[in-house]
Amino acid sequence: MTPSLVKPPEPDAAFEISLRPPAFSEFTGQIKVRERLELMVEAANKRGDVLEHILLSGPSGLGKTTLAFIIANAMNVNIKNTSGPVIEKAGELAGLLTSLEKGDVLFIDEIHRLQPTIEEYLYPAMEDYRLDIIIDQGPQARSLRLNLPKFTLIGATTRAGMVSAPLRSRFGMTARLDYYHAEEMQKIIVRSARLLGVEIDSAGAAEIAARTRGTPRTANNLLRWVRDYVQVKAEGKITAELADRALTMLEIDRDGFDQWDKRIIETLIHKFNGGPVGLNSLAVAIGEEAGTIEEVNEPYLIMEGYIKRTPQGRVATANAYRKLGLKPPSGGQAELFREA
Ligand SMILES: Nc1ncnc2c1ncn2[C@@H]1O[C@H](COP(=O)(O)OP(=O)(O)OP(=O)(O)O)[C@@H](O)[C@H]1O
Ligand SMILES: [Mg+2]
Repeated sequence: MTPSLVKPPEPDAAFEISLRPPAFSEFTGQIKVRERLELMVEAANKRGDVLEHILLSGPSGLGKTTLAFIIANAMNVNIKNTSGPVIEKAGELAGLLTSLEKGDVLFIDEIHRLQPTIEEYLYPAMEDYRLDIIIDQGPQARSLRLNLPKFTLIGATTRAGMVSAPLRSRFGMTARLDYYHAEEMQKIIVRSARLLGVEIDSAGAAEIAARTRGTPRTANNLLRWVRDYVQVKAEGKITAELADRALTMLEIDRDGFDQWDKRIIETLIHKFNGGPVGLNSLAVAIGEEAGTIEEVNEPYLIMEGYIKRTPQGRVATANAYRKLGLKPPSGGQAELFREA
């Protein structure tokens, strides 16, 4: 029987909010994106104008929601928070849009999951600040035009490729967030530790940083776990040794792999001979949802060159074989095994 897998601690909403940087000056990393956004905000503020629509994309936990709130703070406007799949009817979108005041931010998370009909209502709202709603059906059908205040739409998506071209083209700025470097992660951990009132030395922060997969949300979750561990098992500050012991107990290894990541490459190699295998078959074999694998685990495994997406399916790379202490196969799909 396969052992049941324990996922790392889930993010805790209150915890996450308390660690969320409120201003650009406290937002570490993503330097180019941050500079562009800061410049746009400064220019709009100088002109006394409303900020252009912004699309933020990138993997989960990298700071899209955080940036949306920072932008609204910096513009000194209200932000209304919603999500693509939540808006089911045009009336709900109309309700949200008409509740905005001039300059306010409407934040739509997971914007790639908006229904196509809702998306079409959004086009004239974004471009001309109007909403044409059809009321009634058949011969009585008439369209009602609502004029909207000039507002800023900030969309966030983990799947930039799934945002339709017409929607994407209506954003004045699109910004893509990428995984953070180890030094940036270390800085974020030190900041979070300060806010949590935990002592940590720089080696301790580096030890945690190395296992965060370049993701601030993971960093904060691991830090919270290490804090708990140290509180119970040691007392005093977080050192490299304590951080290592705590994270080993969570079964997160030095490459930031958790059990699920290991399970994915093990399954790919042992059950499917290294692939190619379709995502759905892989998901069934692992016992996880395809969507979770695709959005949570895969981006990092692909970026770090452990697996590759091909038109035929997922393929394990030489790195994946080595990670499991195996010799990569030779020949055949040699081009897939080239070093990253
Ligand atoms: N640059 C940063 N500096 C410091 N902390 C950060 C930074 N980016 C993100 N964080 C922290 O990471 C947490 C997760 O960020 P956020 O919720 O903005 O991610 P997201 O991109 O919106 O993720 P998702 O796609 O899952 O919604 C935040 O609560 C915040 O504390
Ligand atoms: Mg978010």
